Amino acid sequence: MSKKLEQIIQQMGKIKKKQRIGILTAGGDCPGLNAAIRGIGKTAIIHYGMKVIGISDGFSGMINKEYRKLTENDLSGILTLGGTILGTSREKPFKKSKDKTEISKASLISQHYEQMELDCLVCIGGNGTLKTAYKLSQEGLNIISIPKTIDNDVWGTDLSFGFDSAVNIATDAIDRLHSTANSHKRIMIIEVMGHNAGWIALYSGITGGGDVILIPEIDFSETKVAEYLLQRASENKPYSIVVVAEGIKAKMDIKQDVSAAQALSRRITELTGLETRETVLGYIQRGGAPSPMDRMLATRYGAAAAELIAARDFGKMVALKNNDITSVPLADVAGKTKLVKKDDTIVIQAQKMGTSFGI
Ligand code: F6P
Repeated sequence: MSKKLEQIIQQMGKIKKKQRIGILTAGGDCPGLNAAIRGIGKTAIIHYGMKVIGISDGFSGMINKEYRKLTENDLSGILTLGGTILGTSREKPFKKSKDKTEISKASLISQHYEQMELDCLVCIGGNGTLKTAYKLSQEGLNIISIPKTIDNDVWGTDLSFGFDSAVNIATDAIDRLHSTANSHKRIMIIEVMGHNAGWIALYSGITGGGDVILIPEIDFSETKVAEYLLQRASENKPYSIVVVAEGIKAKMDIKQDVSAAQALSRRITELTGLETRETVLGYIQRGGAPSPMDRMLATRYGAAAAELIAARDFGKMVALKNNDITSVPLADVAGKTKLVKKDDTIVIQAQKMGTSFGI
């Protein structure tokens, strides 16, 4: 019998038996992870009669063979929960180990995938996870990915779940800064997350009515920001809100232990003499219940992932394009980042409304 024929017969055997799928969540957590796990799991179990295995703590669980069976009951009541019932880690299995005699973590994952008799591994994560997922698919594992990150910087999809919740939280924080800024006639600087991307700052800056928005994708000048704030003060606008993305820190000449908001706050006081205060919003943006929009997106992504598995259409990431759920090859996504473009219509519109980007 030819090797090819043998492979086809093997595949057919696999299709006949109940498919067994593993799910893991990797990288920084975000609201909506449990909604996605529930979306895949329920569709897989109820509609397709698949078996679902939950892998603990991202790729660490595949390396250490830490997993448990997930039943339909395990998936009930988790839609609204923040975090991930599976746990997560920033384990990067393809990172070269110094000890060359050590079995590589990546080959342990392949071995354990076989031993656990998985037909597919669903990797829910952001850019780092997607890179690992692609490499594992190149090693011959059947992989499906789902994009999650508050940063919204995954290439190939209009939206990642987690982003909407983070923008809601950041907007609420900015709303609250307005009244205290007004009472004290201060410049309020709020730093939001986003890694190297400015999406959270851009969106929450607009939805929270920020006067200045500073993002890593747009080269800004501190002097321009200072001039703009002085101009506002001279127009009897008693306070200003400055929204900054954490990623601008890399572009500023500041010490490691100082936040971008702190550094900017000091600079603005020096340049304008105006009273400033800073807020670093931090992990609050990643915690708690997902917004309804994130519940919807994560559920749609989860269900779509189960459909791809049923169709044995592997090596793909589910994605949102023009409000339709579709999929893109992991090969196209891995290693790329989606950043804000200087001429994004949202940036242009905000500028036309008088928002400063410090340029
Ligand atoms: O990628 C999500 C994110 O929250 C970024 O916005 C932030 O820079 C980073 O993770 C923080 O990472 P960690 O959880 O490792 O502190």
